[in-house]
Amino acid sequence: MRAFAIEGDWGLEHLRAVTRPEPRPGPGEVLLRMRASALNYRDLVVPKRGYGGYTGTLPLIPVSDGVGDVVEIGAGVTRVGVGDRVCPCFFQGWIGGEPTLRRLTRSLGGPLDGTMVDTMCLPEEGVVRVPGHLADVEAATLPCAALTAWNALAGLSTLRPGDRVLVQGAGGVALFALQFAKLAGAHVTVLTSSDERAARVRALGADATIDRIALPEWASAARALTDGRGYDHIVELGGEQTLPQSLRAIRPGGVISLIGVLSGGTMNAALGLAITRQVRLQGVTVGHRDGFEAMLRAVEQHRLRPVIDQVFAFADLKAALARLATGAQFGKICIDHAV
Ligand SMILES: NC(=O)c1ccc[n+]([C@@H]2O[C@H](COP(=O)([O-])OP(=O)(O)OC[C@H]3O[C@@H](n4cnc5c(N)ncnc54)[C@H](OP(=O)(O)O)[C@@H]3O)[C@@H](O)[C@H]2O)c1
Repeated sequence: MRAFAIEGDWGLEHLRAVTRPEPRPGPGEVLLRMRASALNYRDLVVPKRGYGGYTGTLPLIPVSDGVGDVVEIGAGVTRVGVGDRVCPCFFQGWIGGEPTLRRLTRSLGGPLDGTMVDTMCLPEEGVVRVPGHLADVEAATLPCAALTAWNALAGLSTLRPGDRVLVQGAGGVALFALQFAKLAGAHVTVLTSSDERAARVRALGADATIDRIALPEWASAARALTDGRGYDHIVELGGEQTLPQSLRAIRPGGVISLIGVLSGGTMNAALGLAITRQVRLQGVTVGHRDGFEAMLRAVEQHRLRPVIDQVFAFADLKAALARLATGAQFGKICIDHAV
């Protein structure tokens, strides 16, 4: 079967198209014929072996997110059946409950093999059925970016109608955060990098936008949008350059969800602002299967459609990653395995 693998040495230059034997499901496993995959910023970083405490081994099949049809089940499988369309869970083995080191280390696309294959075997516990209204490329976007945004806003905290939420950028996690915050009835400000992107996030429901390039010190302007009260929740995706601003824009008692490090991963912020205003700094790392299923109920109930930037053919993975590296995408970059 077709596959992509990083082999020989780390680095995207060692990513190549390969062939692999078709896997067969053992007891408790399901065989998926993959229909689509979707990229995350992480898929640029893992191949360089530069992701947190990441210590994977080669060869590695990249990309964490995808969707496929169950085409065969192993002995004893009852959770899903042949013909079901399912997403693999980002963390294989984190069903619910508190994070533990073991639960957080078994992620697809590194260290476990990912979705850039024709077929893959997974434990039946590691997949979830997806709503029927979604196209394959839309469903493929859900395991990492969508669940991370959901977990920040609806899992680890609970938004209320009228809450003020600030989201950074118009990438994958950011647009899901915008969509979920609007579902919850919040007022959403989006930081973005151009008038054109601002118009697009407003069309998706953003109540206010700030140009993060024209106004890199955006905290005062953002606070002004809340009548000086500050934000109830900030979805922090920039990291090093944006956290100091977030700490000035959050309200006393508000929550900053620490998710991304797009501008650098070192903390250099006035931490007194968090302490004296009792701000909660909440690390978020994707989420568990129970959260994924709760999110899918919301996606189905509200017929939510993920925002797709561009769809590439299976053979064009490198071009898709190059698009991701530009940061110019609006929403998710996907791979259609049928093309
Ligand atoms: N913790 C987790 O579980 C988790 C899960 C998924 C992703 N992440 C992290 O979250 C971040 C975003 O991931 P993603 O997959 O959504 O990325 P993405 O789709 O590549 O989004 C990138 C977008 O972010 C905006 N951006 C770029 N630099 C920025 C900066 N310095 N400050 C603010 N915004 C900036 C840009 O949008 P505009 O031009 O419109 O501003 C850009 O298009 C990454 O650091 C990723 O590793 C973490």
